[in-house]
Amino acid sequence: MIYLDNGATSWPKPESVYQTMDAFLREKGGNPGRGSHSVAAAAKETIEETRMLVARFINAPEMKRVIFTLNCTDALNMGLKGLLRPGDHVISSSIGHNSLIRPLKKLERQGIKTTYLHQAVGYGCISAKEIEESITGSTKLVLVTHASNVTGIIQPIEEYGAVARKHGLIFMVDAAQTVGKYPIDVVAGNIDLLACSGHKGLFGPPGTGVLYVGDRCDLETVREGGTGSYSEQEEQPVVLPDRYESGTLNSVGISGLGAGIKYVLAEGLEKIHTHGQGLRARIIESLSQMPGIKLYGTEGREGAKAVPVVSFNVEGYDAGEVGTILDQVFDIKVRTGLHCAPAAHKVIGTYPKGTVRLSAGYFNTEEDIDQVLAAIKKIAAN
Ligand SMILES: Cc1ncc(COP(=O)(O)O)c(C=O)c1O
Repeated sequence: MIYLDNGATSWPKPESVYQTMDAFLREKGGNPGRGSHSVAAAAKETIEETRMLVARFINAPEMKRVIFTLNCTDALNMGLKGLLRPGDHVISSSIGHNSLIRPLKKLERQGIKTTYLHQAVGYGCISAKEIEESITGSTKLVLVTHASNVTGIIQPIEEYGAVARKHGLIFMVDAAQTVGKYPIDVVAGNIDLLACSGHKGLFGPPGTGVLYVGDRCDLETVREGGTGSYSEQEEQPVVLPDRYESGTLNSVGISGLGAGIKYVLAEGLEKIHTHGQGLRARIIESLSQMPGIKLYGTEGREGAKAVPVVSFNVEGYDAGEVGTILDQVFDIKVRTGLHCAPAAHKVIGTYPKGTVRLSAGYFNTEEDIDQVLAAIKKIAAN
């Protein structure tokens, strides 16, 4: 079996992630922050260690600004709904995932205004100049996707962040596809809000995500409840991270996330990124010459910075049919369709049918890729 759906969630996980989660649940399964006994304290300690690792990983100036969430979708919802009020204007782009677009659409019904800038087909990125030219008197937020989950192209977020900061705007980044695969520095990038999954590039289990909340943001809470602190107060505490972390945390998942981040740190981001770039280049080189294959989002972008995601279609087949044949005949797992990012497909001309997406991970080898390419060649030849 070959798993090439790491853009959805990474799998397998490093061995240390399985072991850490197993040991955590057996030995430290108390409710973190909800008691002074040693099992609750041990759980809390693990959570704070992971918080420290995340902070170090994204260069967050303070650990307390790292908030654990259910996934990247939850982090985007918390950031957008906590920040935006009727009358606010948001500048975003057209490669957004539904986890970003759908909360925005709901907020639009409540009176926020949104400008979606279109990624130029030949380059794959919006420009900082376009962002600057779209700023109005009511613009509050610049909201971008770091890498498209359809084409893999990485956007120059440092340039966008500089423009946002120059105009005193909040800058929010959806880093679901890049964290753990490409460097992210919230200070150098002028990032005020960073949303990411814990279960993709950071190798945590499903059910883990992170929202970084910078000190220029005062977010309203979207959920309130027990925090294990200030229990005498009826109102939600103002201290971080408690303000945004109500209810029992996914402590076992967070322990796995910590082990995943340690693994990424030990391997090194550069090695992980280079491996991904190599697999991506191997796929593109072969598919671009294969009869009956149409690749998307790669033209004119040789050497573009990208995560290992490639979209294509096979002439005469629906994307879904190709996915089914790859799965049932060749035991190869890929994603097909719109990948929850319909606007990105409008940019590359594949809406509404979508594409077949190969998303390689750190544990995929060149041999895996060659087997997948051979299978695609067979399908295209029929
Ligand atoms: C660009 C992008 N943003 C957000 C998400 C949502 O991530 P999660 O599944 O962690 O909520 C994804 C998931 O694939 C994504 O690719």
